[in-house]
Amino acid sequence: MVASAILLAFGLHLHSLVAVADLVGIPTIPFTTASGRHAYDIRRTQSVVVDSRYGNTTDTNGWTLISPTLDQFATTFQADLALVTGSDCSLGNEVKGNSIILTIDNCSGFVDAAGRWTSEAYRLDVTKENVTITGASPLGVWWGTRSLLQQAVLQNGTIQAGSGVDSPGWNTRGIFLDAGRHYYPPPFLVEMCNWISYWKQNTFHLHLSDNLYNNVEIYSLERQTGLYARFRLLSNHSAVAGLNIHPNESYTRQDFDYIQSACAARGVTIIPEIEAPGHALVISQWKPELGLEGQIDLLNISNPDTIPQMEAIWKTFLPWFHSKVVHIGADEYVDSHLSKNALAEVYNTFVNALNDYIFKISGKSIRIWGTFPPQANYTNNIGKNVTVQHWEGFEDNALFDYIDNNISVINSDDHFYLVQKYSGSYSQQLNKTLIFHGNPLGGAFAPNIFDPNNATNNPPRDSPYVPGQIAAQWNDYGYNTSTYLEAYDAWREGLPALADKQWGGKLTEDQYDAIFEILQASTPAQNLDRTIKSKTSTILHYDFASDDNSSGVVQDLSGNSYDGHTTCWIANNSIHFDNNCSLTTRLTSKGRNYTLTFDIHPNGVDVPLFTSPDSQLRSGNGSSTQIMLFSAGNAFALNYSLPLNTWTQASLVGRGNQTFFAVDGGEEMEFTTTIGVNGAFFVWTTMAITAPLRTIGGGGFRGKMKNITLVDYA
Ligand SMILES: *[C@@H]1O[C@H](CO)[C@@H](O)[C@H](O)[C@H]1NC(C)=O
Ligand SMILES: *[C@@H]1O[C@H](CO)[C@@H](O)[C@H](O)[C@H]1NC(C)=O
Ligand SMILES: *[C@@H]1O[C@H](CO)[C@@H](O)[C@H](O)[C@H]1NC(C)=O
Ligand SMILES: *[C@@H]1O[C@H](CO)[C@@H](O)[C@H](O)[C@H]1NC(C)=O
Ligand SMILES: *[C@@H]1O[C@H](CO)[C@@H](O)[C@H](O)[C@H]1NC(C)=O
Ligand SMILES: *[C@@H]1O[C@H](CO)[C@@H](O)[C@H](O)[C@H]1NC(C)=O
Ligand SMILES: *[C@@H]1O[C@H](CO)[C@@H](O)[C@H](O)[C@H]1NC(C)=O
Ligand SMILES: *[C@@H]1O[C@H](CO)[C@@H](O)[C@H](O)[C@H]1NC(C)=O
Ligand SMILES: *[C@@H]1O[C@H](CO)[C@@H](O)[C@H](O)[C@H]1NC(C)=O
Ligand SMILES: *[C@@H]1O[C@H](CO)[C@@H](O)[C@H](O)[C@H]1NC(C)=O
Ligand SMILES: *[C@@H]1O[C@H](CO)[C@@H](O)[C@H](O)[C@H]1NC(C)=O
Ligand SMILES: *[C@@H]1O[C@H](CO)[C@@H](O)[C@H](O)[C@H]1NC(C)=O
Repeated sequence: MVASAILLAFGLHLHSLVAVADLVGIPTIPFTTASGRHAYDIRRTQSVVVDSRYGNTTDTNGWTLISPTLDQFATTFQADLALVTGSDCSLGNEVKGNSIILTIDNCSGFVDAAGRWTSEAYRLDVTKENVTITGASPLGVWWGTRSLLQQAVLQNGTIQAGSGVDSPGWNTRGIFLDAGRHYYPPPFLVEMCNWISYWKQNTFHLHLSDNLYNNVEIYSLERQTGLYARFRLLSNHSAVAGLNIHPNESYTRQDFDYIQSACAARGVTIIPEIEAPGHALVISQWKPELGLEGQIDLLNISNPDTIPQMEAIWKTFLPWFHSKVVHIGADEYVDSHLSKNALAEVYNTFVNALNDYIFKISGKSIRIWGTFPPQANYTNNIGKNVTVQHWEGFEDNALFDYIDNNISVINSDDHFYLVQKYSGSYSQQLNKTLIFHGNPLGGAFAPNIFDPNNATNNPPRDSPYVPGQIAAQWNDYGYNTSTYLEAYDAWREGLPALADKQWGGKLTEDQYDAIFEILQASTPAQNLDRTIKSKTSTILHYDFASDDNSSGVVQDLSGNSYDGHTTCWIANNSIHFDNNCSLTTRLTSKGRNYTLTFDIHPNGVDVPLFTSPDSQLRSGNGSSTQIMLFSAGNAFALNYSLPLNTWTQASLVGRGNQTFFAVDGGEEMEFTTTIGVNGAFFVWTTMAITAPLRTIGGGGFRGKMKNITLVDYA
């Protein structure tokens, strides 16, 4: 199926001599094939050549302030090329044999959808002997290298001779993640950057403060005061002492530098958001006098200390941020006791004050969520140089309220909103139909489509006031809805397709379905699927039959040689855990689908059985003896405990978005989560938790195990 679909997709190029046609990729690449059937064999590349005039050049037009040089992008590309094609080529300034030449120039066609020059464009020229990527800047070259890697994967290592100019329609293409109501560790965020970079997305907007919500009409002030609220940046500066009292799930300046620079290395800019004056419970938990009476998740802007306190927070953190623009939130400032007009007046004052302050002390501009569109009868309106991120038609009309008034609007319309696991109104997966057919005038979605049902509400494709689209994923129901990786899972199937549309690509749904999994499996510098290379469907098998206690090596019989190491005693085809000994493997985690089976003979509870950085399978915790999985700081327990001092055959099963445990061939028990919805009711839902594989036993486990087997199906 897949192979023939690809042939169909490429048929146009393979069978014509000179043809103007897109190269199928995510996104597609405009291309004209040369006459003859020549192709460049990417696998036989002998050198990656950086035009020495531009080795130190950086892009100064993108959103980041820490843009890599052409030399740095070239180094990253060379490593990717080796990984994806196995080519072993040199990197330098001289052409040696078959070469990929990276240079910079200003070619015709380097323009965005509004006809403006863009630094992200590149030209691709392919001959039998070499490939030249001519970027408008090093960033343009970088996107060109993504095209080359993708073509290498899809065309079995070659790319046909020809040329094309490829230019993004919009300069803001990417994702938003709510890291306020759910923590995500820095390495996960970097893997996400690496993943989206392969699809030429350049923006990762991180929401760094927020709180859960309880309806103020129903619940007491005490309940509001105690709600989950977080501020993720951790500084010991006196101006913010006491603001972040949860250091474990926080980003230090060093963490944030790591995230920003690792993402920038692949062309992705982190846009940080600190949310106020709404969704700001963490600020009024810190300084109760700043909360609006009756609804303390809103700040009282009329309090003369409120704006100075927010300025003090920004002053502390602005030096951390390496982007030209920051996001001050300014979302959902709604209170049923006060009129919309009264709130809008103080809100506009707040936004303008921070706009001026942030620019004055850092030179950065700001973005806000669409909340109170300008009106003639307000005494003040938001400054026209504030970029608005539209999210809902009931808040504003992107075209009439902003674009027609020369205010730029990023499209984060909630047709593409995801809410983790459950929502009364939002989806848990991107809608592919909407991506490929979301233009009310016919055709695919594009960043200028704010309303997929009514074209009257959409600006033209070439509007200069649409920087692009950012697809948002929210954690409305908090920290225990999901694992870290489930944030990726929710986007996995649809986001690359949306990336094609954010760039202005022409991929069809059939083409996407044919190539997505192939490209996904080749994405460099990430393993978000937590796949493990394996010769057969058995990934790991320890039978402890012929292992030698003196070497400490536990043989893997799967054929993959994933041998383990242990100081535990091995006898009678089993491993004896005692004295805190453990068995360590070279593996980390296995993502969906998997079945991990093992025979276990425990002598006690409250111990870890299998541990990895992503998850841990435990028998008991504290006073509980239940089997449970830990992930993302939460425990998901079964109403089941392993019997002590006897053998049980157990299996941990990851199937689709669910995770199960079964013993002795009995019925599967499911690990689920119970999530609270606005303090009003609970919802039970699935958890997709990876199999933990790095360490077996340890942490005080006493007992025996035998016959540990991991297979890649469930
Ligand atoms: C690039 O920068 C490096 C380090 O600053 C310097 O040694 C080198 O001469 C520069 N190269 C060019 C071509 O300017
Ligand atoms: C590139 O050329 C176009 C005209 O073809 C011009 O408008 C643009 O400013 C040039 N850009 C640079 C960076 O030189
Ligand atoms: C690339 O190959 C073409 C011929 O296919 C040749 O004309 C050109 O000089 C080569 N470029 C470089 C930089 O070697
Ligand atoms: C891919 O290329 C390799 C190496 O040249 C060749 O052995 C293989 O047959 C090719 N596969 C396809 C599907 O063309
Ligand atoms: C404050 O943070 C800085 C930078 O992270 C660190 O070097 C310093 O030791 C910290 N000071 C205190 C008192 O914790
Ligand atoms: C935005 O415009 C206002 C008023 O015109 C000005 O004071 C401010 O400096 C501008 N800010 C930015 C980021 O350009
Ligand atoms: C301001 O104008 C809007 C319509 O543009 C209207 O709904 C609102 O009531 C007006 N407010 C006041 C205070 O006049
Ligand atoms: C879990 O997967 C099933 C089947 O694919 C799907 O119907 C369901 O919506 C998914 N659940 C979530 C929370 O994504
Ligand atoms: C996806 O979008 C299409 C087109 O707007 C719509 O008809 C369909 O109901 C949506 N599907 C879901 C699951 O929301
Ligand atoms: C489409 O949008 C326009 C402008 O907002 C509105 O006047 C019109 O009623 C809408 N049409 C439909 C069918 O909803
Ligand atoms: C995992 O199992 C589910 C349910 O059987 C199936 O729909 C899905 O395709 C499987 N996924 C993989 C990657 O095999
Ligand atoms: C080991 O476990 C596998 C997978 O559950 C099972 O097929 C096999 O029969 C077991 N071997 C022994 C010796 O128990």
